[in-house]
Amino acid sequence: MTIGPADVEAAAGRIGGRVRRTPVLEVDGAELGVGHPVVLKLELLQHAGSFKPRGAFNRVLGEPEPPAALVAASGGNHGVAVAHVGRSLGIPAEVFVPELTPPTKLERIAALGAQLVVGGSVYDDAQAAATARAAETGALLVHPYDHPLVVAGQGTMGRELGEQATEVDTVLVAVGGGGLIAGVAAWFGGRVEVVGVEPERIPALYDALAAGHPVDVDVSGIAADSLGARRIGAAPWAVASTLVRQVALVTDDAIREAQRWLWDQVRLVAEPGGAAALAALRSGAYRPRPGERLAVVVCGSNTDPSSVTSA
Ligand SMILES: Cc1ncc(COP(=O)(O)O)c(C=O)c1O
Repeated sequence: MTIGPADVEAAAGRIGGRVRRTPVLEVDGAELGVGHPVVLKLELLQHAGSFKPRGAFNRVLGEPEPPAALVAASGGNHGVAVAHVGRSLGIPAEVFVPELTPPTKLERIAALGAQLVVGGSVYDDAQAAATARAAETGALLVHPYDHPLVVAGQGTMGRELGEQATEVDTVLVAVGGGGLIAGVAAWFGGRVEVVGVEPERIPALYDALAAGHPVDVDVSGIAADSLGARRIGAAPWAVASTLVRQVALVTDDAIREAQRWLWDQVRLVAEPGGAAALAALRSGAYRPRPGERLAVVVCGSNTDPSSVTSA
């Protein structure tokens, strides 16, 4: 089953009023070393500090009956989102996270009242534990990216951006398991070029596009808690394999530099995964054509501010 604009439109109707319409900021291209103004989509100002509530709300509200309980695995942001969704809808939530999840995210999940279970070294370990728990308890498993409703929900971010910035040729989007980029690509359907950005130490979509199918990659580096999926999900791949033609790879140093730029120039604290797409532009990993009009999604803020402001 492929995911298209009608699914994103349906998601927008379902989750409307529950997610924020996040603002865009137009930045002079000269500040970023490119010819045209660049639109930053400030999705880090979303509830729960990332775009993730869009997909999680759509997944839960897409059920025919309200579920009795939610279970999810996450490197952190999806867990915060599911905790937020559970609290908003009055549904208990249990969140499995790996040991690499930073304290800021653990604290936020717990503060939102979700049951927190820490175990395993990377996100995939937590996913295996969450899947087993859902089978055991009958709770609804809210996958962070590998479900059509989650992909369509994330696509509402692209739909919004399309309304806010009508003159854009290309959107740069960070990629983990692929839910966000697939949703955005599904919405634009080729009308706008959608370029993926991954850390060079987690090239899941880059390697999948090269191989012609999803492959396992090693997971490491400073963005592993947000972009650390070992392979692209099947549902995102069905979309991204036809609509995403290019992935730019960025170093951890470039990500840090983009975080620093966002703090110095805009006074925003972005987490590494949230700054990755901007890092592609700042570092030259993505080189726009002359006159190419760009939007960059800044998609997560859940980090210790001092890791950015005192770096
Ligand atoms: C801040 C941030 N950006 C990007 C992503 C990647 O999203 P996806 O797994 O849908 O590709 C995540 C996933 O957790 C995230 O937290």
